[in-house]
Amino acid sequence: MSEYSPVLRPRRLRKTPSLRAMFQESELSLNDLALPIFVEEGVDDYKAIEAMPGVMRIPEKRLAYEIERIAKAGIRSVMTFGISHHTDATGSDAWQENGLVARMSRICKETVPEMIVMSDTCFCEYTSHGHCGVLCGHGVDNDATLINLGKQAVVAAHAGADFIAPSAAMDGQVAAIRQALDAAGFTDTAIMSYSTKFASSFYGPFREAAGTALKGDRKTYQMNPMNRREAIRESLIDAAEGADSLMVKPAGAYLDILRDIRERSDLPLAAYQVSGEYAMIKFAAQAGAIDERNVVLESLGAIKRAGADVIFSYFALDLAENKVL
Ligand code: PBG
Repeated sequence: MSEYSPVLRPRRLRKTPSLRAMFQESELSLNDLALPIFVEEGVDDYKAIEAMPGVMRIPEKRLAYEIERIAKAGIRSVMTFGISHHTDATGSDAWQENGLVARMSRICKETVPEMIVMSDTCFCEYTSHGHCGVLCGHGVDNDATLINLGKQAVVAAHAGADFIAPSAAMDGQVAAIRQALDAAGFTDTAIMSYSTKFASSFYGPFREAAGTALKGDRKTYQMNPMNRREAIRESLIDAAEGADSLMVKPAGAYLDILRDIRERSDLPLAAYQVSGEYAMIKFAAQAGAIDERNVVLESLGAIKRAGADVIFSYFALDLAENKVL
């Protein structure tokens, strides 16, 4: 006997792999994961995104092929981002009946009808200035942008999108979109709101991926990363406006917020592991500093444990194709 013998011994439940599996409290599954994809119009070739090793812009003409491959790997859902060659001051291509937003949903749903298609609903990839809406004298005009978000939502729903996913961070966007969808007869089209979206520097690589023209930042519409109460309030407002699911974005640095919202709302809750989170893991692994696969599973597992039902992750396809999940 050693001099001190603990009475409480949590290690008893960790002795064997079977015990560890039996007493594991949260589980990751492919059912929880959704894959964000970048689709570029008017080009022939895939384009590597340097800041996101392993992620490519998909040429629109290869989207049908890719969506089949994604479905075959076992992924249930994609979030579509377009790289537009038709930008203007308002981002009007986004609400054209045959614009890129509409075509992405149409191609995905016609190719794989059971794929859950979420249409990222914003303007930053479609505006010449890269902001998420219409500019006015003092920044982005909230209410003018709401009208355009409604138009974009209807066009995406008409093209078959299962979810409208507003990420423009405008006040009232969920209510405006719900109203526009219902008025057009799309009462069954759901809203995946980016309800708590921080003005985060973790979005850095996305700006290259999506080719946004932004100079400056989005701090007048996206949230201050230092604010906890406001983060909860933003999601509760979207719940009250009729969102079908809430979201926290980014994920890894905001697990406390994820837990806070989980405890305050019974709606499904998503988390978005963003481009910078992906890049940090990829580059650290490439440098030999960490084991990529294990860190990916640990980071996604932590997001799940914190309270996410759905996780958007650029790692989803790799995990699915290699049968890790
Ligand atoms: C813009 C949008 C962004 C992301 C998703 N939608 C960028 C931003 O808000 O600046 C970021 C995704 C990522 O970094 O992976 N509507």
